[in-house]
Amino acid sequence: MKLCVVGPGYVGLVTAACFAEMGNEVVCVGREEDPIDNLNQGIIHIYEPGLEELVKRNLKDGRLYFTDDLVAGVKNALIIFLAVGTPPKEDGSCDLSAIYQVAEQIANIINSYRIVAIKSTVPVGTSEKIAQIISQGLKKRGLNINFDVVSNPEFLKEGDAVNDFMKPDRVIIGTENVRTAEIMKELYAPFARTRDKLIVMDQRSAEMTKYAANCMLATKISFINEIANLCEHLGTDVSLVRKGIGADHRIGYHFIYPGVGFGGSCFPKDLSAMIHLGETNGWNPILLKAVKEVNDRQKKRLAEKIVQYFQKKDGVKGKKIAIWGLSFKPNTNDMREAPSIDIISRLLLEGAMVEAFDPVAIPEAKKIFGDRIKYAPNAYAALEGAHALALVTEWNQFRHPDFDRMAEIMTEKVIFDGRNLYEMQELKRKGFIYFGIGRS
Ligand SMILES: NC(=O)c1ccc[n+]([C@@H]2O[C@H](COP(=O)([O-])OP(=O)(O)OC[C@H]3O[C@@H](n4cnc5c(N)ncnc54)[C@H](O)[C@@H]3O)[C@@H](O)[C@H]2O)c1
Repeated sequence: MKLCVVGPGYVGLVTAACFAEMGNEVVCVGREEDPIDNLNQGIIHIYEPGLEELVKRNLKDGRLYFTDDLVAGVKNALIIFLAVGTPPKEDGSCDLSAIYQVAEQIANIINSYRIVAIKSTVPVGTSEKIAQIISQGLKKRGLNINFDVVSNPEFLKEGDAVNDFMKPDRVIIGTENVRTAEIMKELYAPFARTRDKLIVMDQRSAEMTKYAANCMLATKISFINEIANLCEHLGTDVSLVRKGIGADHRIGYHFIYPGVGFGGSCFPKDLSAMIHLGETNGWNPILLKAVKEVNDRQKKRLAEKIVQYFQKKDGVKGKKIAIWGLSFKPNTNDMREAPSIDIISRLLLEGAMVEAFDPVAIPEAKKIFGDRIKYAPNAYAALEGAHALALVTEWNQFRHPDFDRMAEIMTEKVIFDGRNLYEMQELKRKGFIYFGIGRS
């Protein structure tokens, strides 16, 4: 099929490359500020395992092309995917200006039937609004052209996005038009060998499904963080409790890892948008508000522990704190709403010196912190002369460090483990002072 994907970001790039990989002809359209020339040479501005090879292969084979010209992108495409950003506004609602703007442009371009598929995460009712915008635009041009708007939310997770797109748990197709649903099913058939993975529903329910999924996952994380904090106060170990509860298949082990709170471009934004949606539609979503509150508190906890520890001595001011991990999770360079930002900001406020290492996110961190912190070329360099290490993101390379080497180069042997990666007893044996999450 001939496809257009608007918005070459984390979602749009993966969508475009994966559809091209399945033999479709894809034009991916960005804005002037997107690195279109680089993309056309296979140089990717985001870190996502497997994506660069996929883009390069499909560029070479002529199935993928990048442009900032929407007219060229839309010209031959049967389906136009909208994958532009929908960032949060001050009041928690979603900023839909980019997606509405693209809808207006599409209405000014198309001359024959098109499907507009919405990949961006958008509040319930947005697909209908986009259909209105396109209808009005076509009317202004005096045209009577058929088109359909489908809600097709994306569930990929950064760090494993290509795999998620290629082997989805499900594909949600939000349309009540049978013909459109069939076209979408045909497009997705190679990704979902068992057809029951393709779930067709009305647009509004499809939009709601995306928010409900992210709110559920966020709830699981806040739940286990709440339990972890209770464990700290009650002298129990959340790692053991986690094992105990996860064995119950109704609960399961996924997403019940305690830590430094969730970040990223999706959970915080989608949770806030859902709360706003509830409040503006006559429902007070008290559970979701609590999930957000627990997370806001959790993002402050690790820095709080560091400050408290040094308060008992001569204060954290002037102390060097090494940070391992800056991205909001491993295998991505994305630092949007990353807990590391809250942690480092607090430490700087308290007068600490911070030296950080992350395998890929340092360029992003430089945009946020500039020269207010130091950036280490490798994990051990960050530790030289450090009074403590704060492990923030659980990159694989941090899982089995050389503790003897660490002990030699650190000024004080203190570890604040924000992901419960390390064996408490082993570290104690090696003379470290260890603080985990929910482990007394
Ligand atoms: N990142 C994720 O893990 C993820 C997962 C599922 C869903 N989503 C949703 O997908 C959407 C996109 O998220 P993202 O993380 O890929 O965002 P992003 O910021 O990485 O990418 C957005 C892209 O859209 C481009 N863009 C904006 N306006 C444009 C316009 N008028 N014309 C052409 N291009 C335009 C931007 O330049 C950018 O390249 C959001 O609604 C998000 O909530 C994200």
